[in-house]
Parts: sequence; C-alpha cells; structure tokens
Amino acid sequence: MVMPSTEKSNASVCRLRQYALLLAFLWTSFCLVLWALNSGIHIKQFQPPRPVLVPRNNNSSIISAVDMGISNEEWERLQKALDWPIPDQEITHLIQSTSPVHSTFSIVGLKESYKVGEKISVNITARDHNNNLKRYGGDFFKAKLFNTELKASVYGEVVDHRNGTYSVALLLPWEGQAQVFVRLEHSSEVVQILKKYTESSFPRTHFNGYFEGSGPNKTRIREVVECNLKWGADGSWRKGNFCCEYKDIKTGTVWQCERPKKLSCDKLVRHSGGRLENPLNLLEQQLFSKKLTNVAISGDKKILNVLPNTAAIGTMEKCRSGMTTPVPAGFYLKDVWKSFVCNTRQFSSAQMGNCLKNKIVYLMGDSTTRQWFEYLEKTVPGIKRMDLHTLPAGGPLMAVELKNNIIIHWRVHGVPLRFGKVMPITDLHYISNDIDEIAGGRHAVIVFTYCAHLVFHPITFYVYEVAKIRQSVVALLSRAPETTVIIKSGNTAGLKNIFQSDWHMLQLNTVMREMFRDIDGVIFIDVWQMTSCHYLIENIHPGPVIIANEVDMLLSYVCPT
Ligand SMILES: *[C@@H]1O[C@H](CO)[C@@H](O)[C@H](O)[C@H]1NC(C)=O
Ligand SMILES: *[C@@H]1O[C@H](CO)[C@@H](O)[C@H](O)[C@H]1NC(C)=O
Ligand SMILES: *[C@@H]1O[C@H](CO)[C@@H](O)[C@H](O)[C@H]1NC(C)=O
Ligand SMILES: *[C@@H]1O[C@H](CO)[C@@H](O)[C@H](O)[C@H]1NC(C)=O
Ligand SMILES: *[C@@H]1O[C@H](CO)[C@@H](O)[C@H](O)[C@H]1NC(C)=O
Repeated sequence: MVMPSTEKSNASVCRLRQYALLLAFLWTSFCLVLWALNSGIHIKQFQPPRPVLVPRNNNSSIISAVDMGISNEEWERLQKALDWPIPDQEITHLIQSTSPVHSTFSIVGLKESYKVGEKISVNITARDHNNNLKRYGGDFFKAKLFNTELKASVYGEVVDHRNGTYSVALLLPWEGQAQVFVRLEHSSEVVQILKKYTESSFPRTHFNGYFEGSGPNKTRIREVVECNLKWGADGSWRKGNFCCEYKDIKTGTVWQCERPKKLSCDKLVRHSGGRLENPLNLLEQQLFSKKLTNVAISGDKKILNVLPNTAAIGTMEKCRSGMTTPVPAGFYLKDVWKSFVCNTRQFSSAQMGNCLKNKIVYLMGDSTTRQWFEYLEKTVPGIKRMDLHTLPAGGPLMAVELKNNIIIHWRVHGVPLRFGKVMPITDLHYISNDIDEIAGGRHAVIVFTYCAHLVFHPITFYVYEVAKIRQSVVALLSRAPETTVIIKSGNTAGLKNIFQSDWHMLQLNTVMREMFRDIDGVIFIDVWQMTSCHYLIENIHPGPVIIANEVDMLLSYVCPT
C-alpha cells in the first residue's frame, strides 16, 4: 500500500527523477513504435500525451488547484462556498470580541399563537464586551426551536448580514409549545484564528510511528518516532530528521516519519495519534475561553403556542440519490426524526433484517460509521460479529447473518487518523483505494464518512483527498451503476478548541457536499442538523437515540418505499 523512500525530497533530486522518468517514457514509446513496425500489423500509432505547462506558483506555501487535482473554476466555486467573513480590524483586546452576555436575540413580530407549518423570524444582534454593536459579521451562532416534554426540536440556519446582525427563519413543525434557543459557538474573532491555522502549515497534531524489526542475536528492536502528513511544495511540516517518506502509489498522499535511530524506514508497522501542539498566544487563548464559546445568549424566551393546521401536508418523495438537503431537513418529535428530504421510516428489527437481505454493506471512515456498525450488530436479528482478532475500537470489523446472507464490514480511513489506539498501519486504507477494489453491483452498499480526523490539516489537503475519492466513486458507478453509494456528513460535536471545532466540521462538510453535488447516483446523508438541534449534549459520538435515527435514514435509502 505504501512505498517507503529514504531520500530527502530535495528539489534537484526531484528534477533528476523527472528527467529520468521522461527518458524512460520516451524510450518505451520508441520501443512500442518499433515493435508495431516490426510485427507488420497496423495498429494505431501511440500518441504520447503532449506536455502541458503547469502554471507553478512561485511561492511554495501557496497550493494551487492543480496541486489539489481540481480545476481552477472548481477551486473558485469551493472558495466561494467556504467564504466566511472575519473582523475588518486588528484584534488587540478581548473587549473587541463578541460577547455572549451582551449579544441578544428577538423574535420579529411575536404573535399570541401560530399554526403548524408557519415560520418565525429571529433577529440576533451581536455586541462586544463594552456592549457596543458589532459592525462586522463572522460570528458562529447555532439556533434551534425545541420542546423538552415532546422531545421535539428543529434546526434553523443563521444568515449573516455582515453588519453585526444575523437572522434565522425557524419552522414551527409540531403542534404544542415551542421555545427558541440561540448560542454563540464562536465569536468572529475566534473564527479568524481558526481560519488562520487551518490555512497555515502549523501542525496542530502529531502522530506516532512504531517501528519494529529484528536486531542482532534475534532480538526485536522497537522504536517510536513522530510522523505527520507531508503536504505542499515545502513539505508543510518538516522539523528535525524527517526523512522516511511513505507515498501511497495510487492516491499520491505522502506520509513522513522521523528516521528511527536503529531501524530502517521500511520497518514502520504501527500507528497512533500523538501529541497536540497549541499555537495560540495569550490573547488568542483568552478569546477561546470556556466562558465565551458555545454559550447560550439571552433573548425572547417566550413560549410559543402552535395550533394544529388542517391544511394538507404534502407527501414525501421516495428516498433516492441526488436529493438536496433543505433547511430544515426534518425535525424531532418524540425522539423520532421526521425527514423533509424524502420518505424515511422507522425500521423494526425484523424489517432491518429484511432490508439488508443479500447485501454486503461496506462502512468506511471513522468511529461514527463504527457506531452504525455497532447499532446494526445490536439490532439486526441473528447477526454475529466475526472475530478478526483486531481491536474493537480500531477494527477492521465484520458481522454476518447467514439466513439472509448479510455481510457488514467496517474499516477506518487511511492516515492522517487520530485514533488513540495503536493500530497496524496496514489496516489503515485510503477510502478511494478501497472503493477501487470493490466490484459493486446491486448487492453492494458503500457508506463512507470523511471529516472528523481531517480538521487538523489544511483544507487544500482535504480537497485533494475528496477529489481522489470522487474519482473512485465515479469509476465504481460507471462499472456497476446499481451500487448504492452513500456519503455520511460529519456531525456537530460541540468541539470548540483550536484543534477541533464544529466550525472546521462545517467547512469540511461544505467541501464534501459541493464536490459531490453533480455526481449522479450518490446519496448524501446530512446528519449535521440532526445532531445540532438534538436535546443531548453534543458529542463527537452522537448518543444512541440519534444513531438509531441516522440508521433509519440509511435504511430508508437502501430500501426506499
Ligand atoms: C520566484 O521569486 C523569487 C523571489 O521573489 C525570484 O527571485 C524568482 O525569480 C522567482 N522565480 C520565478 C520562476 O518566477
Ligand atoms: C508566500 O505566501 C505566504 C502566504 O500567503 C506569504 O506569507 C509569503 O510572504 C509569500 N512569500 C513570497 C516570497 O511571496
Ligand atoms: C434586528 O434588531 C436590531 C436591533 O434591535 C435592529 O437594528 C435591526 O434592524 C433588526 N433587524 C431586522 C432584520 O429586523
Ligand atoms: C444590517 O443588514 C441588514 C440586511 O441588509 C439590514 O436589514 C439591517 O438593518 C442592518 N442593520 C444594521 C444595524 O445596520
Ligand atoms: C550477541 O551474542 C554474542 C554471543 O552471545 C555476544 O557476544 C554479543 O555481545 C551479542 N550481541 C548483542 C548486540 O547483544
């Protein structure tokens, strides 16, 4: 899977390598032509590809669309979708930042009662610590409507007017009472910091590489060193003696490790997440303080009365690929997610078994798809986990049900991956490579998520990786159009530090959705709203109630009605 090389990637060595490749290529072309002439048959003359002048940036810290494997137009579109306003002034004092204490929300045109299906408009006003109105946007607010007794809630999208005011339209989807809840997840001053470090090559996370090999007298030698991603022309992160490079031949992704003292580069056998490195200065740390992030803001706490509405509610379409996620995408009522995307339903245990009959389900990605695996394993009647002699948290995992011929696999994606557990590096596969090795067809259900572990790295790297996955998905759907391909978005996690924040997750979700927007045959299950508005405290691993609803959504696409 991975090819080690010990050379320091030095520009002149690289150029030499390119010449050598070019020579080898010309020689091969020449031989092919000779062979064709000699054998006397008329085959179409092989046309070598014309060399294309790639506009190279004269600044190694800037990564171009070409480096990411996408067109300039697509990169421009992505940048537009990712655009997020930031302060228009230099921040030198905490008091300049948005204060959750002074910021407020109000319901526009509050009425005595409402009807199901009506919308209310909420106006958020951001103020700084001196109680002055903010003049610029960029604050990250989250808004919802809820009713605790009914276990009901719905998500609202916050629109940034870029002048310190924000508005939210909230649907009133259930009958009974409802209350508005708004919180400040991050001030725009914090978003600016998140942005800065997302775009920089500062390594906020490190990883451990475990080397093992035989020493003299048949002893085993073990060494642990630091490893990280190599990204960008300058290698992004190069400190100390990083000269073991591991390039995945198919994806082109380069992993690098410090050179172990006794063992050679090819003795890398295991991997785990390593230390975190905090780049924040004192002021930046203050802006991130607990009191200021993910805090409820005050406003109209009035209980809204929502009356029944006899007007017919339209029937939902059958779940299929190519559906967009509206806002709201659905709402919770008595712990059940009622989707507005398509006709989802709740599956009983027996119905789950029937739905998955004769299916091979490939769950890929991270621990959030492992939660789906564990839920299916617990709920599908008669299903049993095979002992693959792997760690339960790290996998790969596999469960089978013989009567209905159901197979479920789960595997984590390739490096960078921040699992705490030490895992064989051979078990970490790039999603695109695994998809390339699946024949596909109507029995195959491929589900992947790719978000939570990527928040530590430049977004340009994420684009590069998603472009590879997209290539593999397009090829799969071309060879086996009946394959079910499902992308699960990242969920909100309530994470709010410089390492991981829901703001990062939101940005990555945007990239994934945009890059798959025009790919026919792909299903995008957006779980962001499902986790953002739920009454459980947000967690990177959503609670069992949410997972059950997510899996019902999955099965509604696998077995639509
Ligand atoms: C790149 O930039 C450097 C310094 O700004 C300059 O000296 C050099 O000529 C530039 N190279 C190219 C190929 O433009
Ligand atoms: C390269 O780009 C970075 C980031 O935009 C900038 O800080 C740096 O000054 C640039 N270097 C050159 C030589 O232009
Ligand atoms: C929101 O409230 C602020 C402050 O009360 C007000 O200035 C602004 O015009 C309101 N915006 C809307 C869209 O109602
Ligand atoms: C901010 O912009 C919105 C939308 O353009 C406008 O309705 C509102 O009055 C503005 N508020 C202030 C305080 O300028
Ligand atoms: C290997 O074994 C020999 C003989 O027992 C011993 O002399 C030598 O020191 C050992 N070498 C190492 C590196 O332990």
